[in-house]
Amino acid sequence: MIASVENRLYTGSRHYLTSKRMRSPSFAIELGLWVAASFMGMNRRQRIVMAIIVSGSLVYIILTQALLVFGSAPGEPTQPEVRKLCAVDLKREDSTKGSNISAPIIYVVTPTYRRPEMVAELTRLGQTLTLVKRIHWIVAEDSLTCTAPITELLQRLGLSYTHLASPMPEVYRKERYVPRGVSNRRAALEWVQEHGSDRAVLFFLDDDNAIDVRLFEEMRPTETVSMWPVGLIGDYTVSSPIVKDGKVVAFYDGWPAGRKFQVDMAGFAVNVGFLKKQKKVTMPYIAGHEEDGFLKSLGLSIKDIEVKADGCTKIYVWHTRTAKNPSRALKLEKHQNDNIKVLTDNMREMGMIK
Ligand code: UGA
Ligand code: MN
Repeated sequence: MIASVENRLYTGSRHYLTSKRMRSPSFAIELGLWVAASFMGMNRRQRIVMAIIVSGSLVYIILTQALLVFGSAPGEPTQPEVRKLCAVDLKREDSTKGSNISAPIIYVVTPTYRRPEMVAELTRLGQTLTLVKRIHWIVAEDSLTCTAPITELLQRLGLSYTHLASPMPEVYRKERYVPRGVSNRRAALEWVQEHGSDRAVLFFLDDDNAIDVRLFEEMRPTETVSMWPVGLIGDYTVSSPIVKDGKVVAFYDGWPAGRKFQVDMAGFAVNVGFLKKQKKVTMPYIAGHEEDGFLKSLGLSIKDIEVKADGCTKIYVWHTRTAKNPSRALKLEKHQNDNIKVLTDNMREMGMIK
């Protein structure tokens, strides 16, 4: 059963104060003329009142715009985020045969973007997820629209899922270190905050990682935030909480970078009820600090972290990376009447070639 298939465009929770029309130069001229015209027909008292209203409004507009551009918390978006909800299908959450319908659902958030490896990564990861009960997969594309081969994959897998798209705002693409997968993760996060069940658990899983399905049963009972080691990452080949007497006391991670929570995106899960109780949940547009920024925004204290994976001694998830293939433009003049034409059209749709 498809609960809802939508094609809704919306913007992120942070809006610009003024609309596009209000920012256009012609609007300013029109407004100026209107104010001048009104002034002429007024007596002295009315003019004073009008002057106070106009200057007060100007000060308000200037201050709020300045606050938006200069005064926002580090990593908060300075450009509007465009989001598109393409489809929601809740079919397996309550109807999977043999699954324990009282077990908390796990919302697995996977950001992805168009490149030659995209469909291969999502096929492998999605097929792994079909081994797990009570999963809801949120595939969040870094794009303006949802890609057809991903839509088809999601329909085929039989998982419960949400498919959405949210492109990285242009300002961030120009940065030296690009905050990868943030706008799309933020869109998924907002979806979970709005629609997620309080008993559920949220887990971020990048499209190129490798996972042992036992990890899902480790994280399922998470009451606040749980953590475990992530393999194949950084100078130590692992990133892990340091555990003493069953409690997290610090982190073993090759890139401390001043972070309070030195963890990878795949190294923690959050209880959705706990998430919803927090007032300022965010994921900053700061490369390398997305995890730390997100966990700090939950008001989490290190002593409250739940320890998983046998006291953080086992590896159930790896930060694997896939070799990058060039996005080629193929010469196809000689193949307009054979299978190669159809084959390459399909590959183009998948983002494999130009
Ligand atoms: C590491 C961490 O594992 C990421 O969680 C973190 O977002 C990233 O560093 C960072 O700090 O920028 P890494 O393997 O270096 O990840 O990065 P990618 O695998 O290239 O990207 C992370 C995720 O974002 C992937 O799921 C990828 O598909 C997605 N992504 C990447 C986008 O959605 N848009 C992009 O332009 C690039
Ligand atoms: Mn990666």
